[in-house]
Amino acid sequence: MENFTFYSPTKFVFGKGTESEAGKLVKAFGGSKVLIHYGGGSVVRSGLLDRVKASLDEAGIAYVELGGVKPNPRSGLVYEGIDLCKKEGVDFVLAVGGGSSIDSSKAIAAGVVYDGDFWDFYCGKPIEKALPVGTVLTIAAAGSEGSGDSVITKEEGMYKRGASGEGIRPKFSILNPELTQTLPPYQTACGITDIMAHLYERYLTNSKDVEVTDRLIEALLITMKNEGPKVIADPDDYQARANIMWAGTMAHTNSCGVGRSQDWNSHNIEHELSALYDCAHGAGLAVTMPAVFKYVKDHDIDRFTQVAQRVWDVETAEEGIDAFRDFLISIGMPSTLGELGGKKEDIPVLVKNLCYGDGRTGSISGFVTLDENDCAKIYEMML
Ligand code: NZQ
Ligand code: ZN
Repeated sequence: MENFTFYSPTKFVFGKGTESEAGKLVKAFGGSKVLIHYGGGSVVRSGLLDRVKASLDEAGIAYVELGGVKPNPRSGLVYEGIDLCKKEGVDFVLAVGGGSSIDSSKAIAAGVVYDGDFWDFYCGKPIEKALPVGTVLTIAAAGSEGSGDSVITKEEGMYKRGASGEGIRPKFSILNPELTQTLPPYQTACGITDIMAHLYERYLTNSKDVEVTDRLIEALLITMKNEGPKVIADPDDYQARANIMWAGTMAHTNSCGVGRSQDWNSHNIEHELSALYDCAHGAGLAVTMPAVFKYVKDHDIDRFTQVAQRVWDVETAEEGIDAFRDFLISIGMPSTLGELGGKKEDIPVLVKNLCYGDGRTGSISGFVTLDENDCAKIYEMML
């Protein structure tokens, strides 16, 4: 196991009705004027936005609103949010929604207190300072509610890039599994896939003797394998929703990723798919992961055999990858590039953006370093 520092100071408030605590929590973390930031309308239709506002009113907290965050959130709305916060004297950003609303909120929070262009953070500058951010989560998926990360797409060039830093880790996150019961089955399945991807990205390591984190990841993968089909069959299964929601948070606070190198090649390869085709991140990952795993498995076949046997109850590495792919198909996920709207002719563009776009220098590195030829072959395997 390698040396590490683990600091995950987000306060998680979990369970039924907990959105009513939003106002109290904002106040406790020093907020007096809030930007409520949300997506395309699901929180309006469900009545959640009104309940959150009522909670802020009750705590005597003023607020302004900015909706319209799209899945795969864009830079344009971030600039708008930064201007609005400056004009209104906002001192706290409250995301109400999924990973996209949370990531856009984090970008705004970092941009408000920075003199330069917020995009600098998405080109590698660490985020040290930001307005405090809180979240009311409506989908178990990205894990942004407990992470120090944000992913934004720059409209000019359609580059999808991540930024990180302790400054944007949420001060609190409200996790009410009931709120996820209104999700369409496809979005639920995308979330399940993303959570499992966050686990696999950590499982694929070159570090030795990492038994404790291996076992934590396996436990969470088995939980997802068992609970995922329950919510697809019955969207109102509160207990299964609850297990998945907490697994999603644990998968990405990095508690099961400490002391080990991690992969993240599948995420990087996927981000070009959601940038070009505007597909859901989870759906892109469902197509990407089996191809990446087959391509890199011989780098450490024992690792793939271990997860095959311990999680998927099959013997070989290859069977384990197939079992994972079949599981994703069984919950309604795509398995080919064509299902995302992709074509063979797009591969050179995907590879160019992935390996050379916006400051990159020809390869991506993780479990295995992949150059442009490797990446082209992986995209071809998805056809
Ligand atoms: O926009 P609204 O109307 O709210 O609809 C959303 C959206 O269409 C809908 N939805 C969310 N909760 C709902 C609901 N519909 C009905 N009922 C509910 N309770 O679901 C759709 C997807 O929402 P989105 O926020 O995009 O989903 P997700 O949480 O999967 O976030 C995806 C984004 O997170 C990034 C992804 O790349 C992608 O851009 N990621 C962020 C990470 C991080 N910050 O740590 C890590 C991840 O690996 C990921 O890359
Ligand atoms: Zn992800």
